[in-house]
Amino acid sequence: MELSQEEKIIETTAAYVQQALAGAESGHDWFHIYRVWQTARAIAEGESARLPEPAGDGSGVNLLVVELGALLHDIADAKFHNGDEAIGPIKARFFLETLDLPAAIIGQVVNIVQHISFKGGNHFKGQGKGQLSNESQADFYTPELGIVQDADRLDAIGAIGIARAFNYGGFKNRAIYDPAIAPALHMTKEQYKQSTAPTINHFYEKLLLLKDKMNTATGKAMACERHLFMERFLEQFYAEWEGKA
Ligand code: ADP
Ligand code: NI
Repeated sequence: MELSQEEKIIETTAAYVQQALAGAESGHDWFHIYRVWQTARAIAEGESARLPEPAGDGSGVNLLVVELGALLHDIADAKFHNGDEAIGPIKARFFLETLDLPAAIIGQVVNIVQHISFKGGNHFKGQGKGQLSNESQADFYTPELGIVQDADRLDAIGAIGIARAFNYGGFKNRAIYDPAIAPALHMTKEQYKQSTAPTINHFYEKLLLLKDKMNTATGKAMACERHLFMERFLEQFYAEWEGKA
C-alpha cells in the first residue's frame, strides 16, 4: 500500500526518534514515546468525534501536529542537559526542517515540544510557575498541545504508571512502602526531588492528582479509568500488607 505524504513524514519521524532515544533511561525511552503517540492519537480521535468537523479554516484538531508533537515531545529531556529547556525545541525544529513541511506546522509542533518541556507548567501547576523563564509561556494553549500533554500524563497513571513508579523507586533504591512515612503534600519542587520517601507515597503526592489536570474530555475519561485501577491496586496492596487478601 502506498503511504500518503503525511504517513511518510510520521514514519520518518518515528524512526528518527527511535534512534535518537536508543540508550535513554527507561522512564523516557522509545516505548514511552510510542505509548504517548498511540494515546495521543486515541484522544485526538475521541475529541474529533465529540467536536464538530474541523472547519476548512484550520480550526479543529490537526492530527499531523498531534502525532509529530507526541513523537518529539521528549526528544531532549532538560534533566539530561543541565536543565537547559531550550534543547528540545531546537532539536525538534532542526529535524522538522529536514522534512517537506509547511512552516506553520513546524511552528505548532515546536511549540508543543517547548511547552511540554516547561516542567513548571507541567506537573507542578501553580507551584512551578515562577520557574518559567517567560511567564507568558504558561498561557500558551492549543488543542494539539492539550492532547499531547494529556497523553504524557496518562502514561504516568494506570497499570503503566504503577510500573513506571516502582521502576523509578527501585532505581533510586527506595522502599516500596513504609507505614511510618506519611505522604507529604505541598512540597516545593526542590524538596520533592530530594525526597527519599517510599514509592507508594508518590501515588498521593502526584499520581492520584493527575486525573484532575486533564485538558480534554477524552483524556479525562481515560484518566478516570486508570485512576480507578490505581485505587483498586492500592486497596489490594494494603490488604496484602496485612495478610488480609
Ligand atoms: P515526566 O517526564 O512525566 O516529567 P518524571 O521524570 O517526573 O516524568 O517521571 C518519570 C516517571 O517516573 C513517571 O512515571 C513518574 O511517575 C515516575 N516518578 C517520578 N518521580 C517519582 C517518585 N518520586 N517516585 C516514584 N516514581 C516517580
Ligand atoms: Ni513524556
